[in-house]
Amino acid sequence: MKVNGEDFQTIWLDSTESIIHIIDQTKLPHHFTTKPLHSLDEVINAIKIMEVRGAPLIGVTAAFGIAFAMKNNSSDDSLKDASSRLFQSRPTAVNLQWALNRMNKELMPITSEKRFEAAWSLCQTILDEDIKTNQSIGKHGLDLIENNFNKKTLQILTHCNAGWLATVDYGTALSPLYYAYNKGIDFHVWVDETRPRNQGAHLTAWELGQHKIPHTLISDNAGGHLMQKGEVDFVIVGADRISMHGDVCNKIGTYLKAVAAFENNIPFYVAAPKSNIDRDATKNFFDIPIESRHEEEVLMMQGLNSNNELTNIQIAPKGTRAFNPAFDITPHKYVTKIITEDGVYSPQELKSVYS
Ligand code: MRU
Repeated sequence: MKVNGEDFQTIWLDSTESIIHIIDQTKLPHHFTTKPLHSLDEVINAIKIMEVRGAPLIGVTAAFGIAFAMKNNSSDDSLKDASSRLFQSRPTAVNLQWALNRMNKELMPITSEKRFEAAWSLCQTILDEDIKTNQSIGKHGLDLIENNFNKKTLQILTHCNAGWLATVDYGTALSPLYYAYNKGIDFHVWVDETRPRNQGAHLTAWELGQHKIPHTLISDNAGGHLMQKGEVDFVIVGADRISMHGDVCNKIGTYLKAVAAFENNIPFYVAAPKSNIDRDATKNFFDIPIESRHEEEVLMMQGLNSNNELTNIQIAPKGTRAFNPAFDITPHKYVTKIITEDGVYSPQELKSVYS
């Protein structure tokens, strides 16, 4: 996707060394900076502090963490240790586990001398596949839009950031919108700010702006009101994990939007790769680990000060305690369709397609 007219991905391989480069998303939208990652520790840190974030991108970056570990020490113990440290870096997005499982499955049977080379090559495959997957999601999503809506200036609402910044390229929930824009479909996007990390205000507004897609930022509490007023034709979001029953774990606040959409008869779409699907149908999905992040994210806000420097300011009385769950679960009854790289499914169809 484009940044100031130039093609970019969120993560790419160095042309000369076995290192990777990322866009530091903690600085967006005010500063566009990229940084190299050279080691497992740097990868874990980048995931934890959300320099990279979004379920698919976390998975791809974690795979490189394994490759870096293999460069240093390619023993079985090192592979197990790196996997368990990466697994703990962010607990909710299932793509992380998916990528680690895939790396382990491929690397364990290989002799340790060959592990780094194999790991690096598998990482490239996973990275390339992510782009193709998101392109397919975009095309299926475009068909869904074209087959169901025929209106001047479609009004679309999205929560969090499930655009190209949350993946290697194209995005999940925003991929159909990029395809629709390129096809000349007339639409406008309501962007939820997505407190407390403000992925909507910081990231979605920025990437839509870079592509000149008409959008308006709204406070998280405004969506229900807009739906009641007939100002939303459909909602589209990404996912961090989807149960075999079609329940969707996504950024905190998604559930409230889904309930409001249901109440107002507005389609609620979820776009996600099949690596998002938690195949363990035996577990109680409502018991999955929901990441609880630092209370400072709620008590403080980040922005530019008058000297154009990124600053955090305190917004609650000193000493106030805060609780900061990062994700919630939307039961499948509120989900109209799930768009994957394979097609468009009702929540009830997932089991037969993916088990
Ligand atoms: O905490 P984040 O920024 O990693 O959360 C991201 C989301 O919740 C996204 O909506 C989800 O990962 C889907 S991204 C394609």
